[in-house]
Order: sequence, then structure tokens, then C-alpha cells
Amino acid sequence: MVPTTVASGAFSETAQVSLGKDGARSTAGAAGSGDAYFPNAGNGGYDVQHYDLALRYTPPTEPTVLTGRLSGVATITLRAKQDLQSLNFDLRGLDVSSVRVDGKAAAHGKAQGKDNAEWSQKQDNANRYWELTVELRPKLEAGQTTTIVIEYGGITGRPLDTTGALYGWVTTADGAMVVNEPDGAATWYPVNDDPEDKATYRFRITVPAGKTAVANGLPAGAPQTKAGWTTWTWRASDPMSSYLSTASVGDYALSRDVSPDGLPIINAIDDGVTGAPLAETAAALALQPQMITFLEAQFGRYPFESFGAIVDDDSVDYALETQTRPVYSEVADENTVVHELGHQWFGNSVTPADWKDIWLNEGWATYIEWLWAEHQGTASISNQFADTVAYLDANDGWALNIADPGRDSLFANPVYLRGAATLYALRAKIGDDAFFAGARLWLTEYDDSNATTADFEAVMEESSGQQLQTFFDDWLREGDRPAMP
Ligand code: ARG
Ligand code: ZN
Repeated sequence: MVPTTVASGAFSETAQVSLGKDGARSTAGAAGSGDAYFPNAGNGGYDVQHYDLALRYTPPTEPTVLTGRLSGVATITLRAKQDLQSLNFDLRGLDVSSVRVDGKAAAHGKAQGKDNAEWSQKQDNANRYWELTVELRPKLEAGQTTTIVIEYGGITGRPLDTTGALYGWVTTADGAMVVNEPDGAATWYPVNDDPEDKATYRFRITVPAGKTAVANGLPAGAPQTKAGWTTWTWRASDPMSSYLSTASVGDYALSRDVSPDGLPIINAIDDGVTGAPLAETAAALALQPQMITFLEAQFGRYPFESFGAIVDDDSVDYALETQTRPVYSEVADENTVVHELGHQWFGNSVTPADWKDIWLNEGWATYIEWLWAEHQGTASISNQFADTVAYLDANDGWALNIADPGRDSLFANPVYLRGAATLYALRAKIGDDAFFAGARLWLTEYDDSNATTADFEAVMEESSGQQLQTFFDDWLREGDRPAMP
């Protein structure tokens, strides 16, 4: 969805329409995606095809001072979705030093001439407005592709999301843990930070020799060391939303595994993870091949080229389903590993179109924890449902409309628990066959794409042949406990 006009409390941006010499309509690409919760994240008017990110990172030299240095060259290939006289990228807290458009240097600031593109940066933290604007000369026509090369850099710290949680490029004592959900990607590269703009990526991450850098996808060649710096290259060949990208740096030990059907698994465990957390992590990661087989039997083929884990220190006290390679803080326990694996289907392959649809991610990943526990014989699914209902009863958990929970309740417990309970109740209502056929229909229809709660309701109505509007209102939206199945 790319509105030409985005109005919000934070900013109001009206696309400028002008007529070129040839009479063609060219407009400024909007500075935001228009998401109800993060209106300034993402940008309008274009689709990124590919990000090629060459990063150089110096972790803290004093482990107590949690700042590092990051510099990058981002080569972004994009296609105009409309005639464009300018476009924006999101970039937070880092300074641009040069921009090239199709090989030609752009000037910094305004009115340098008629022939060159121009760029400027604006940071307004109070309004969460972090924009790099590129005036295009010549203008781009709808459908045209261009390559924009942006050099940038700065000091890294510990960015916070709107709830005060660490996210983005989180500087750690020995590297960085990189977890962007929802709008943290802009803390480390210029980006169209809209979950609907999926792209492929290549990462070349240069770090002091001895450090390991791990990103999404698969390694492309062996690490190269020169003059005390090592470059690690990773390629993510499956389309990916920016909030799922990572390029974490640490004192990682890499290990490889493979699923029964041949999927490569690459795990990175920081050397600071020791003792009981390491033992628990190793045991859970050893189950990944079986978990993949189990979920493939329920939901169809694993959607990407690889899987694995990045397990780092306790800086960030949550895990994230970064595509193909989830990031865990301090420990990767069995429930969390199967949860993040489940997100590869529900969240990463099929991604919410809007942030308010987040229950589609968290409800499914939680329900998948229940399926796995039942499969392992640790807890029946009906007992897990009953415990969850008891929790929601005791904690006013039915008060939250999880189909529109509000920006700062994206990851509130009811989003996970009421979400999983809704799926349990749905299965009870429509039966196993329609439920699992509906899940597979959802995954094939929206594979590598985005969808809304309304789309999900439509798929389940199709699969079951039942009218489900009242059901979904009662289970997702109403402020009271629904009638139990
Ligand atoms: N999507 C992540 C998960 O459930 C949770 C991210 C939580 N983020 C946060 N800022 N608390 O696996
Ligand atoms: Zn989750």
C-alpha cells in the first residue's frame, strides 16, 4: 500500500506532483509507508530488489564502553513504482558521506546544478523521522530500475524501540547483536523499512581478525583475512523483509548440521555462553533437524535455503526470528527454538502487511510451540490451551484486541497467548482437515509475500466453507472471554 498522502501526528507529507518538460507526471516518493503504528518507517514509490551491504565494524575496545564504529557502502538496486523525482531511505543515527545514482556522484544539499542528483539527510528523533532524501536527475520513470550507492558511517550504541527495549545494531562487549523488529534496520543501513518491500541481500562484513560475522542465508566463499581484518560474506537469496535481516558480530564458534531432507543448518554460539545455558542451548539446537521434519509434515516444505542460530550474550532479553538464522540472547531453549523455526513459515515467508497484524506471527509461533510439546510428549495441546485460558482470565488478557493491539503492545503476552488460543479454537470449530489445509493454503497463496488478518480469515472461510466473521471477532477482538470450544 503506497498512499500518495500520509497524514499522521508525527508528520504530514503530501506527494509533490510536478509536470516535467515532456508533460509527464513525476512525484516525490512518500517519506513513510503509512503503517498505522510506524507511519514514517518505509518509503513510497519504489521497490527494492537487492541490498548489497559492505560493512566495516570495530567492536568496543573497552568491554565496559558499549560503543563501536560502523561504516558501510550500501548498493541498493530498486525499481520505481511510479514516476519519481525524489525518493527516501530510512537511516537513523549514521551520517551519509556520499551518494551515487547509476554511477554518477550526487551533490550534497540543494541547487548544485541541473544535471546532478542531490541528497540530504534529516533526523528528527522526537517524531521518529530519519530520512535520507535523494533528488533524482534525471527523474525515474515508473518501471525503471536504478542502482544507488550510499557511503555512510558513525558510532554505534544501543538503540531503543518505542517501548524502551534494545533493538537494531546493539553494540555488545565483543561485537554486535542485530535484531530489528519492528523498525530497527535503519540503525545500520539505509533501507526501505517496510515489511512489504522484500528484497534479496548480500552482506560483506569486515571485522577485526579473530571476530566472526554471521548474517542471513548461506556463506558465499571462505572468510578472507588481510592486514588484520577479516571479511565474511553471506548471501540471502530468498526475498526478505528488512526487520528480519541480521549481521551479528561476536566471538562465535560456528558449527554445521543438516536436516534429514538436506537443508544446511549453520549455528553460531558466542564463547561467552557457557555452563548450564550452553548445555541447554546445545541440546535444543541438536533438535533442529527433527523440528524441521516435524513442521514440514504439518505445514509443507521449509521455505528458505538454510536455517540455524546465533546465540549471543544477555544484552537483548528476547529472541528474534531473523530469516534463516534466529538470534537468541544468552540461551536458546527448546520452546524458543521451535517458536523461531515456526516463524520461518508464519512471519517470514508470509509476513504481516501491517504491524497491527502481528498476531499472525506470534499466535502461530506460539501454537507451534504447543504442537511440538505435544509431539514430544511433554504436554497435551488441550492442557496447554487450558493453562493459557487460565492465564488470560487471571491477567485481564481478553481486554486486548489482538488484531489491532496498539504500537507499544505489539509483543504483549495476549498477542502470543490469545493468538494461539484463537488457532486452537479455530481448529476445534472447523476440524483438523480444514484447519491444516487452510494453513497450507495460506502459506502457498502468500509465500514470499505479505497478508492481513482479513486475508487469513478469508483463507480459513474458503478452506472450511464456513462463515467465520463472528468467530474471529469473538476470539481476536471482543473484550470478553469467548465461549470455549
Ligand atoms: N518476534 C520475537 C519473537 O517472538 C519477539 C520480538 C520481541 N521484541 C521486543 N522488542 N520485545 O520471537
Ligand atoms: Zn515470536
